[in-house]
Amino acid sequence: MNIITVPRAMAVWSRRLHREGVTIGLVPTMGALHEGHRALIRKARLSCDALVVSVFVNPRQFGPAEDLTRYPRPFAQDRALCAHEGVDVLFAPSREAMYPPGFQTVVALQELARRWEGTVRPHHFQGVATVVTKLLCLVRPHVVVFGQKDYQQALLVQRLVEDLNLGARVVVHPTVREPDGLALSSRNVYLTTAQRRAAPVLYRALRAGWAAIRSGIRSEAQISRIMHDTVAAEPLAQVDYLALCDARTLEPLRRAAGKVALLGAIRIGKVRLIDNLLVTVPAKKRTGGRIRLGEQRSD
Ligand code: PAJ
Repeated sequence: MNIITVPRAMAVWSRRLHREGVTIGLVPTMGALHEGHRALIRKARLSCDALVVSVFVNPRQFGPAEDLTRYPRPFAQDRALCAHEGVDVLFAPSREAMYPPGFQTVVALQELARRWEGTVRPHHFQGVATVVTKLLCLVRPHVVVFGQKDYQQALLVQRLVEDLNLGARVVVHPTVREPDGLALSSRNVYLTTAQRRAAPVLYRALRAGWAAIRSGIRSEAQISRIMHDTVAAEPLAQVDYLALCDARTLEPLRRAAGKVALLGAIRIGKVRLIDNLLVTVPAKKRTGGRIRLGEQRSD
């Protein structure tokens, strides 16, 4: 496995492979790789000839009061995981290399970046969009894989790639979970034992919302109440938002119809957890009919 730290060297490598007609895959990450990242890497591995994993803790997507300095950086472990999964290039640039003195440009999305995570983390998606654009320009992948765990981010990247004609195929991989339902996240290591025990309440709340839809309930007020009541039963957890929205635009819905996303964010102590479920609601309630609990696959 080749480790590249200099952006220009990354671009040179990519140009050479393009000339040779080799297809390139990219999995962008901030490192501290876990089984969720591994699933994305395996998915990408099957979809391209040459696979790049980027590990870059992007300062521009962290707020001033967030965990940039204490974000875990177990580089040797990440390198071993990538080598084991047959990654061709581990791209691990420094902060100075990605944002040299004089750097001025940002990539900003409109409505999609302002909702949900955007209200709590106002500059977050601008930071994500900027770094993802830079990564796509440097690596020029044919396919780039993101996780459904960060559903708003995945939608935003799909939009960005389309709007700026960046040309990569964006694949969204289902969320990988612990056996108790908690979505894997690099930040789960911050949870104390008691907090870890409380953490699956978010997934339980989303499942309760899904079960309500499945039982025929369509009103947002009722679905939302059921999800909030689930979290309220867990004293360590506070709700940031629990919402029913359109799965494509993320606009809030008053009634469940079509393809909907149940989105949630809670706080347990200082740790913020996010998760989501996609549900396809049939046009008419059919007795005995099944509602599919969707995990998005755009490939
Ligand atoms: P990071 O949090 O490291 O996540 C990298 C990728 O792994 C993202 O696409 C994320 O959605 C996916 N992922 C994380 N946990 C997952 C899980 N449990 N199941 C499936 N996929 C999961 O997201 C970022 O980094 C950054 O914002 C980045 C896109 C790299 C830009 O800096």
